[in-house]
Amino acid sequence: MTSSDKTKVLLVEDEVIIARDIHHMLTNTGYDVVAVVNTASEAIEKAKELKPDVVLMDIMLEGKRAGVEAASYIYFNLNIPIIYMTAYTDQITVEQAKKSEPFGYLLKPFEERELRTTIEVALYKFKMENRLKEREQWLSTILTSIREGLIATDAQGRITFMNPLAVKLTGWPEDKALGQSLNKVVKIIDENKQKIIKIPLKDLHSGSQFVFPPRCLLANREGHLIPIAPLISPIENEKQVISGVVLTLADITAQRKAEEEQLKSLEKMTKAMIGTIQALASTIEMRDPYTAGHQRRVALLSAAIAEKMRLPQETIEAIKLAAEVHDIGKIHIPAEILSKPGQLSELEYNIIKTHPQVGYEVLKNIEFPWPIAEIVHQHHERLDGSGYPQGLKNDQILLEARIIAVADVVEAMASHRPYRPAKAIQEALQEIQKNKGKLYDPEVVEACLSLFKEGYILQA
Ligand SMILES: [Fe+2]
Repeated sequence: MTSSDKTKVLLVEDEVIIARDIHHMLTNTGYDVVAVVNTASEAIEKAKELKPDVVLMDIMLEGKRAGVEAASYIYFNLNIPIIYMTAYTDQITVEQAKKSEPFGYLLKPFEERELRTTIEVALYKFKMENRLKEREQWLSTILTSIREGLIATDAQGRITFMNPLAVKLTGWPEDKALGQSLNKVVKIIDENKQKIIKIPLKDLHSGSQFVFPPRCLLANREGHLIPIAPLISPIENEKQVISGVVLTLADITAQRKAEEEQLKSLEKMTKAMIGTIQALASTIEMRDPYTAGHQRRVALLSAAIAEKMRLPQETIEAIKLAAEVHDIGKIHIPAEILSKPGQLSELEYNIIKTHPQVGYEVLKNIEFPWPIAEIVHQHHERLDGSGYPQGLKNDQILLEARIIAVADVVEAMASHRPYRPAKAIQEALQEIQKNKGKLYDPEVVEACLSLFKEGYILQA
């Protein structure tokens, strides 16, 4: 064995004869005594300089317990294990010595075998302790560096651990949060229901799963709301015993912001697309001055009817947009026919009747959040199947189309058309009343009639 493989021992002993004896024993047993010193300050100096594997330290140096102080410094600052040698076993000395967390005691006088065993046990303990420290350090680094707030509880749901991000998110200092109930420190709100979620700790301890709702907010200690994605799971030890829960909180503020931006730009795009279609639809009205503003007026009346029927906002939007472009198919019809005064021939009327189909063809490939093309397709269908182009009946016709059909008829009759002078609004209302249930949806007719009864006026 070369001297570099041997365990290096620093011997601190102020009694020359004893020092010589121990030195001899150590060398005999195969240790490398790197230095023998007799004062506390020398011990520190040599430990720094020679970096021994272990220090054999006499507690009493120069008549004082000076060894304890030096040992503490060497262990805590230089991370070298200490073994005390002492001839005294009084309680005060032992208590003092304990503070430096020694790895062994040797009561003088001792034998070679005892010396060897004590050193080997101390070195083993020291190695294990270092390994444990490293592991703890590693775990703590992971828990600290993880980009999610992490909170652990005991079996009673009391907080036992919080990583720095959890402290930051909740606004609770760790020392204040430890020992508190998880539900007191972590207030998670179900964003859709606007309700605080009580984490069912008891259920979790009995092994059941708990899934948070899709949109959650964390209300921190100062009352700020932070969008989060929480996850909770039981902590199960190797014996499958649940000893608590672990909650992770991912701050999704940035993600939410990006989603909102995306939604905004989608809305912007949809608006731009709708604007384009409306512009296109209004070109028909330019070719047909008699119907100028017809689609807009039908859209306003349709929306008013839908509102009267208490339909959801989404449906009202769809009806309004579809009505604004419902005659877009007229783009395909020669202007002479569109603006022809007097009665139309059967052929001319048949050409006019192609417009819902053409409108459908124009719109069907545009992706709307609503069935706009279908609604436009069906706006001339009638309940009894007498409409066109498909001759659909009753529920085969979309409600949106049934609403536009009524508004279309009322607006058309009340306004001037090339082939028919404007009839009074009263006549228009009589027409829908007369054909309620036959051609027109009775509920839609009722809504329309009561609108006019309440004073609804068609826009100019
Ligand atoms: Fe039409």
